[in-house]
Amino acid sequence: MSVQTTTSRLNLPALKKMKQLKQPIVALTAYDYSFARLLDQSGVEIILVGDSLGMVIQGHQTTIPVSMEDMLYHTSIVSKGVERALLIMDMPFMSYASVERALDSATLALQDAGAHMVKLEGGMDQLPIVEALSRHDIPVCAHIGLKPQSIYKSGSYRVQGRNQAAATLMIEEAAALEQAGADIILLECVPQKLAAEISANTEIPVIGIGAGNACDGQILVLQDLLGITPGKPPRFAKNFMQESPDIQTAIKTYADDVRSRKFPDEEHSFS
Ligand code: KIV
Repeated sequence: MSVQTTTSRLNLPALKKMKQLKQPIVALTAYDYSFARLLDQSGVEIILVGDSLGMVIQGHQTTIPVSMEDMLYHTSIVSKGVERALLIMDMPFMSYASVERALDSATLALQDAGAHMVKLEGGMDQLPIVEALSRHDIPVCAHIGLKPQSIYKSGSYRVQGRNQAAATLMIEEAAALEQAGADIILLECVPQKLAAEISANTEIPVIGIGAGNACDGQILVLQDLLGITPGKPPRFAKNFMQESPDIQTAIKTYADDVRSRKFPDEEHSFS
């Protein structure tokens, strides 16, 4: 049985219901109209305009140079191709540095660019921001674990939460973010057992990337799925084009493998 919605649009209650029914949620990034349309028509539940566009579209080394204008432009062209999926816009570096900035940025995302939800990176420090957005009924996805916007502080894109103290903090962060009003948690590069515990202890959907197959859903950067990310792909990423004759089949295989929890397997997860 699959979740039915009253409109054809996937909404937050429908995604929450999928979690309750243990139906894995399929998510992917997109940055333009053609791919957005393809993903939407293939039945992907969530499309994220990630600030990963800084690396896979703009050729930067990090996501830091991505501006609000870049995000609004790409979200607006993606939104033209999205009829069914929930569309999330990543808030770029420093665009949510205060409650006022976050509210202004999220307003632009929803009103001008056509996003249905915003995503921000951060844990305990971002609770006042999440609370303020939630108080204004702006849906929020909170991204914890590996946070690419913190690269100049962290120094590397390493698996997070491997020691007990870091794992405990991440569990507390997820609970606090849910309490503050976050609607989705995105967990990046986290040992699978820790991700499973966080997913089991939250009522909101937990979408993983490099976080094992016990999360409520999975996301990949589209270029990683297509095997065209320049340089060495992250260990958790899988090139679905290797076993597919065309892009549509690769996307469908990814979606099928997420739904059957075949992806991510041990090779694409961390312990
Ligand atoms: O920017 C992005 O694409 C992300 C990924 C973790 C999905 O945040």
